[in-house]
Amino acid sequence: MSAKQGGLAGVEAGESAICTVGQSGAGLNYRGYGIDDLAAKASFEEVAHLLIHDCLPTKAQLAAYQDKLMSLRGLPATLCDVLEMIPANAHPMDVLRSGCSFLGTLEPETDTANQRDIADRLMATFPGMIAYWYHYHKEGKRIDTQTEQKTLAGHFLTLLQQQAPSTLAERCVDVSLILYAEHGFNASTFAARVTTATLSDFYSAITSAIGTLRGPLHGGANEAAMALIEQFDSAEAAKTGVAKMLQEKVKIMGFGHRVYTVSDPRSDIIKEWSKKLSDEVNSLTLYQVSEAVETLLWDEKKLFPNLDFYSASAYHHCGIPTDMFTPVFVFSRTAGWAAHIIEQRANNKLIRPSSTYVGPEPRAFVELEAR
Ligand code: COA
Repeated sequence: MSAKQGGLAGVEAGESAICTVGQSGAGLNYRGYGIDDLAAKASFEEVAHLLIHDCLPTKAQLAAYQDKLMSLRGLPATLCDVLEMIPANAHPMDVLRSGCSFLGTLEPETDTANQRDIADRLMATFPGMIAYWYHYHKEGKRIDTQTEQKTLAGHFLTLLQQQAPSTLAERCVDVSLILYAEHGFNASTFAARVTTATLSDFYSAITSAIGTLRGPLHGGANEAAMALIEQFDSAEAAKTGVAKMLQEKVKIMGFGHRVYTVSDPRSDIIKEWSKKLSDEVNSLTLYQVSEAVETLLWDEKKLFPNLDFYSASAYHHCGIPTDMFTPVFVFSRTAGWAAHIIEQRANNKLIRPSSTYVGPEPRAFVELEAR
């Protein structure tokens, strides 16, 4: 497809040393490391260090990095005031978008030498922003946004549920954060790079990215996938219902991909976690419904699930409310966005494409009275 046909599909929009997505239709590497190895053997904090600080940390570096992130979790009092003013029925993505922007007014970027510290600060505070807003509006409770949890996954689940999560739930979210951390020139990352390329500040770039991730064709697909699967109470009902949707040409959220053509390498990994969590909570319906939809979409349209599809049931069984699925994606993708902002700045050029004009030919201006 040419750029003229839309969506910049297939267009090389720049160079990057951060990750490879779908070479030969499949596969994903972060700075050369395969996603299977990272998901099986690393923690999200190691991956964030790899992306933001350029290398996998040593044991000592990892311990220092975890301590640093833990020390950055506190929210300024004025930010808490703002979170209290955001309506209770706001979407949590809007809470993060506003929280990110507001933190940028309290702790503005004055020197790009501190850009990695801002990335770490945002990653450390995002779970607290969401959880503070959520508990304040749900129960009028002003929670402490510090926990003793070393991982971002454990920290978020503890803040959200006000008790430590199961080991399985914590590791499931940890793995999902690894899978969501980076994905090349996707829409939100590209938005961050466009903003960065104007020499704007770090917070503006991340705010642009959050706004872009929100839509259901991008990060919002995990919430839309949940809305789909929870409609059905059995695999049979799902097959009938989704077949009807396909006949009506409805897009099935959580399926298909712009770059992958064979499969999404992240899907099988999160699918396994979805199964483990379903077993742990002894609730198999969502998993069975998901598998039925997967089989049908493959048989009928040769469409495969992307990361968002099985993330839906996995997150649900971790006790995460549906409208917080995309915010969890933000916690993680902040590492990837940061890596791209830093890379863009290192070799910057304003991003400003041209378009093919398809409007009217030049014509004479018509005075107001004569129109
Ligand atoms: N359900 C049903 N049909 C789908 C589909 C889906 N999820 N994804 C793609 N298709 C079909 C389109 O209807 C289109 O068919 P057509 O040529 O007969 O009109 C064809 O496949 C190409 O789709 P298109 O949307 O033009 O491709 P794209 O490269 O622009 O889209 C996505 C990529 C990801 C936007 C698209 O697959 C999609 O909308 N998926 C659902 C949202 C989602 O899960 N997003 C998260 C991505 S990680």
